[in-house]
Amino acid sequence: MVVAPAARSGREARPPKELREPKYYTVKRHLLDIIGTLPPGTLVPTERLLMVELGTSRTTVRQALGELVGEGRLVRRQGSGTYVAEPKVHWPLRMTSFTEQATSTGHAASTQLIDAGREKASDDIAERLELRTAALVHRIERLRLVDEVPMAVETSYLSAQQFPGLAKELRRGDSLYRVLLERYGVVPVTAEETIETAAASPREADLLRTETGSPMLVLSRHSFTADGSPVEWVQSWYRGDRYRFVTRLTSD
Ligand code: GLP
Repeated sequence: MVVAPAARSGREARPPKELREPKYYTVKRHLLDIIGTLPPGTLVPTERLLMVELGTSRTTVRQALGELVGEGRLVRRQGSGTYVAEPKVHWPLRMTSFTEQATSTGHAASTQLIDAGREKASDDIAERLELRTAALVHRIERLRLVDEVPMAVETSYLSAQQFPGLAKELRRGDSLYRVLLERYGVVPVTAEETIETAAASPREADLLRTETGSPMLVLSRHSFTADGSPVEWVQSWYRGDRYRFVTRLTSD
């Protein structure tokens, strides 16, 4: 990877003073231009080399590289260096299960049950599941993997009364939606899904093999049966640097 000094790239006219960008951002843009021409897996020069070649401070280089790692353009490998990242995985947003979504796109889905138990519903969860306050709910935490790579940490809440023995059913790593259909005759058909950003806690970072504080996309799904009864309230934490969610919009 050859790095020309940012100041000499001459690609853009200097922005007006009031819009002048921070130095690290100029370095970042410059690195982005270069990354765009390189195949995934290419080793990026060290901070030290970039510092010298771009005539800037280590802090500036570090900030530019840090943002590019957070955005999934570069990837750091401990003790080895920083590389051009693989393209993000496109993951369609559909009213389907994780297992079905993965298998229908030619991937192998697997699940590790992290924790399953029953607890008293918080006010928020009781309201979402239309239960009385402090009614018992299942809290099921699972690690979802695609082609053996951890993709998301998912925490699901469902009524304990409506779904007796659910945690046991999921011990083998079965699909929740398959169990809901086959054991309880329940099919979630509509859902409201929200997407927000968050920073990975040490635990999520460990489970998803990333760094604490790295950007996450948190999808929350509130799903319902055809007659409008709530089924589940689920939060799924995905690595924001690895996934791109895609949905098709049609006019009414
Ligand atoms: C997705 C949804 C969850 C749902 C899960 C079921 O991940 N976001 O709301 O609970 O699929 O997946 P599976 O049936 O594979 O366990």
